[in-house]
Amino acid sequence: MMRQAGRYLPEYRELRAKAGSFLDLCYNPELATEVTLQPIRRFGFDAAIMFSDILVVPHALGCDVSFQEGEGPRLSQTTSMEALDRLAPTIPLERLAPVFEVLQRVREGLPAETALLGFCGAPWTVASYMIAGKGTPDQAPARTLAYRDPAFMAALIDRLVEASTTYLIRQIDSGADAVQIFESFGAALPPALFGPLSLDPISRIVAGVKAARPQARVIVFVRGSGGHMTQLGWNCPGDALGLDWTVDLAHVLPTFPEHLPTQGNLDPLALIAGGDALERGIDAVLDAVEGRPHIFNLGHGILPETPIVHVEHMLRRVRGAASRYGAKS
Ligand code: CP3
Repeated sequence: MMRQAGRYLPEYRELRAKAGSFLDLCYNPELATEVTLQPIRRFGFDAAIMFSDILVVPHALGCDVSFQEGEGPRLSQTTSMEALDRLAPTIPLERLAPVFEVLQRVREGLPAETALLGFCGAPWTVASYMIAGKGTPDQAPARTLAYRDPAFMAALIDRLVEASTTYLIRQIDSGADAVQIFESFGAALPPALFGPLSLDPISRIVAGVKAARPQARVIVFVRGSGGHMTQLGWNCPGDALGLDWTVDLAHVLPTFPEHLPTQGNLDPLALIAGGDALERGIDAVLDAVEGRPHIFNLGHGILPETPIVHVEHMLRRVRGAASRYGAKS
């Protein structure tokens, strides 16, 4: 489940309170391993996702990164070639050593049948944080800069493609069975920019990872991808495509290549609401994916106010239904 380790779990909140800052937690191999394993112990999910954040990549490249309580991430801004030149030309992997240690430790602590996922942010999503220095509605600062200074934007994206590829390869080598690329802000891009700024850079990362490690599996998640469905479905750069809750699976899946595995797309708010909304949401996904390869998941991260009993109920429903459809739970 997306963001399956997090504030909706009391055991996470307890450990988080002891860890210091959020980044301290990400870079503490012992605690980050424990946080990664918490939801596996509690719910027996089919996969663990390493506990970290997409912003450790700009951090390793030399940006200042911090997480303010209640305000989200804050970064030093990178908006010019000069600022980009001050960052590391290639990613210093030694700065990310704790992440690789988490993967090794989690792999040792996981049941053999439980998959381990690594991840990174897609270049456009990470670039939008680096340019604005924070999360922004519609990523207006990054989009404006993409129009005003396409050469800078291309250079920043190239730097992130290179860094992300190297980073993901090391994650695979450290024990990840698959890696997921998070494009959280694909929705903001107009069709003409979606190719050059989102799809092409993601495709280059996937190609680079697979050229180096042919066994690696890559899941691509694009939030707000509704408007880009045709481009995405037929040119999906990865082995599986994660879809958010705005996508009408019943409508879209028949237009996709038959064997393209999908993931998602239950609305995280339906999981909070529970009751009929949750039942209908689960049924809509299960009915739409019948006969197709699909990873049941939320359409975006689980929210802190989600009742744990709703998660348990969802798992019972999905696992019962999965065996009905002959799929692996
Ligand atoms: O369980 C998992 O999925 C693994 C951990 C994970 C986190 N962040 C932990 C986290 C993953 C995969 C991410 C990815 C991430 N981080 C994305 C892409 C996915 C998405 O959600 O769209 C993005 C855009 C970020 C950037 C980020 N990190 C934001 C905007 C925030 C603040 C959000 C908030 O609700 O405060 C974070 C912090 C963060 N990353 C938290 C967690 C558990 C909450 C921090 C805390 O515990 O105080």
